[in-house]
Amino acid sequence: MTHSGGNNPRGGDKPFLSAEARSAKAEGLSRLSKAARQFQESAIRRTGILGAAIPGLISFAAGYPAPEMFPWDDLQAITSDLLAKHDGNTLQYGATRGYRPLIEHLIAHGLKDRGVTARFEDIVITTGSQQGLDLAGRVLIDPGDAVIVELPTYSGAIAAFHNLQAELVGVPQDAEGIELESLERVLTGLKAKGQRAKFIYVTPNFQNPAGLLMSAPRRRALLDAARRHDLVILEDDPYGSIYFEDTTSVEDTRPIKADDTDGRVVYLGSFSKVLVPGFRVAWMVAPSAIAQKVELAKQAADLCSGVFDQRVVHGTLDRGVVQGIAPTLRAHYQHKRTVMEQALQAKLGDRIKWTTPRGGFFLWIELPPGIDDLALFDRALKEKVSFVIGSAFYVNGAGHEFARLSFSGITPEQIVEGVERLARACMAD
Ligand SMILES: Cc1ncc(COP(=O)(O)O)c(C=O)c1O
Repeated sequence: MTHSGGNNPRGGDKPFLSAEARSAKAEGLSRLSKAARQFQESAIRRTGILGAAIPGLISFAAGYPAPEMFPWDDLQAITSDLLAKHDGNTLQYGATRGYRPLIEHLIAHGLKDRGVTARFEDIVITTGSQQGLDLAGRVLIDPGDAVIVELPTYSGAIAAFHNLQAELVGVPQDAEGIELESLERVLTGLKAKGQRAKFIYVTPNFQNPAGLLMSAPRRRALLDAARRHDLVILEDDPYGSIYFEDTTSVEDTRPIKADDTDGRVVYLGSFSKVLVPGFRVAWMVAPSAIAQKVELAKQAADLCSGVFDQRVVHGTLDRGVVQGIAPTLRAHYQHKRTVMEQALQAKLGDRIKWTTPRGGFFLWIELPPGIDDLALFDRALKEKVSFVIGSAFYVNGAGHEFARLSFSGITPEQIVEGVERLARACMAD
């Protein structure tokens, strides 16, 4: 065959491909969209997979709720009552917005009790608040748009916005939450480049991963800054009801959404941490114009969230199960937090630093000087303990001096043993 060459310097009838491009082609990757080629596996999943291969591993990595706290008997009674009725709607496709009695219950109780006023048209039930992050991103982000996140921030949000081709810009936090002077600097810098941020993503209550509780004045100041710069705030609040003894006032965890008088806060809540995550039932409260578009995006994604799941969740609210277990859940996680702190204090107190979390599932530790998160992770796996590396929560390549330890889903005995293993990993050369 005579050759006209393409761009293949060695001749032949095939255009030249680099080794990387050839391997991408061989694996079918060249067919993928530009966005899909950039999809990233979450570091939490990756650490989970690495850990699962090690028998006897104690995982501080997964932020799972405690299965011993699942209300098994109530769930059994509610599900069997639902199924006994043979009502087709219980197992049929449902409305994209969600099961109306569940939404109405949220409006009249769950949201109202937290100070949030919402109408039916402002709410969409989502398949976990992870879907809320994705759907909010879908209706707000164009490829290349800037999205502001905290440093550190929830890695699932990084994945959702990254997959939508956002440019993620980090703003540091201090003890009170996102630093507003830094935020101003970042926004000015973006403006100078002709760019605008679409929204600011924050988790004010017991942040994943840093465990921080944003102060009330900082929440108000952040809302003022968003108003001045005409930005949306995406407020993610899965841990708001899991507060510990020193956070006595509901005011301390009051959502920013509660003070949203001009429709700029999109608020996400979830039943994953306060009931069970397996139902995948969560909710979004948004200005109705945004909620309408989210409904359309959701229709294309999954038509509706699990209809049976939503009815069971509604049953638990109707019978006061969620409300009834809340104090026990708080005491349970507070106890595990204290056990982890005491173990860390005893074994590593002079080598690592942390701030006591006032709620939530996580202890965020600063590693001993000279050890970075990746190196410690390798050593920790050898000792059969895992955690999530701090850098997984940073969008600017930083965070290698931190690690996230979750105390929620394991037993106090495992926490103590896991900390002993972690201490050995920190001491190893
Ligand atoms: C901050 C944050 N947002 C969202 C999610 C997702 O929760 P869901 O189970 O409701 O999808 C999590 C889960 O760990 C989380 O920590």
